[in-house]
Amino acid sequence: MKSVCIIGISGKLGQYMAEHALARGYEVVGVCRAESVSKLDRFGDRITLIPGRTNDRSVVENAVAGCDGVLTVLVPWGVEGYATGTAQAVLDFAEPGARLVFSCGWHISRDGRDVYGWKLRLFVAVFGRVARFLRFADLEDQVEACQRIFASDTAWTVVRGSDLEEGESEGLPVWARHVGDPVLESNITRRTDFALFMVHALTDDSLIREAPAVVSCQSASARAHGGGGES
Ligand SMILES: NC(=O)c1ccc[n+]([C@@H]2O[C@H](COP(=O)([O-])OP(=O)(O)OC[C@H]3O[C@@H](n4cnc5c(N)ncnc54)[C@H](OP(=O)(O)O)[C@@H]3O)[C@@H](O)[C@H]2O)c1
Repeated sequence: MKSVCIIGISGKLGQYMAEHALARGYEVVGVCRAESVSKLDRFGDRITLIPGRTNDRSVVENAVAGCDGVLTVLVPWGVEGYATGTAQAVLDFAEPGARLVFSCGWHISRDGRDVYGWKLRLFVAVFGRVARFLRFADLEDQVEACQRIFASDTAWTVVRGSDLEEGESEGLPVWARHVGDPVLESNITRRTDFALFMVHALTDDSLIREAPAVVSCQSASARAHGGGGES
């Protein structure tokens, strides 16, 4: 892994991923909306920025060229297929064999075997309908984006984040294949560690074509039940 592209680098998750990628000595290319470029001033010339919307196919094609890995923040904003457009552009234009790592939340299920608590089901049902009605966000579009990724024969990983909080790193999160696994019960991860897991996934071949649901390694459930992606 020498060079990575971060699609959606200006958000909180994107900036943490940039920090972790630079700390590993990777060259970093990033895509973010033009109005968000200034959020990245502190990185100076340590990163190469390509301003543009993350579903702009020509922007993504340009950004991922020559990159060994692509880290994509999948967001469901708007109702015009932002997440699907972003994912499809990455799938279409990333270098053959590149490691592709995408972010989403626990609400995405690869095989329907996740077991969700009432809070998450309620959130998805209520937020999903209200956001779609107000044309603010489209959770179904993020679901569709992930279905396309799952169906792809690229070297993908879809990292499914728990609830997130700010704070110092607690270390690499642990993961499970399915929500409902007791190791995930605490449902909390530091955002910097979600980013750490995304960057870690670039070089962990055991995560290829996996959709790990992650939780802090310091959380009560992780301490009680261990972890490691076997369930
Ligand atoms: N928040 C949570 O609790 C949570 C939990 C689990 C998983 N996740 C996953 O984590 C990822 C990002 O989460 P985050 O909360 O940490 O957010 P974030 O890092 O702040 O990322 C938000 C991203 O959305 C972009 N964005 C915001 N408004 C937009 C708009 N109107 N049109 C297009 N792009 C827009 C931002 O770009 P700009 O900088 O240009 O605004 C930024 O790249 C997502 O994949 C999400 O599913 C989040």
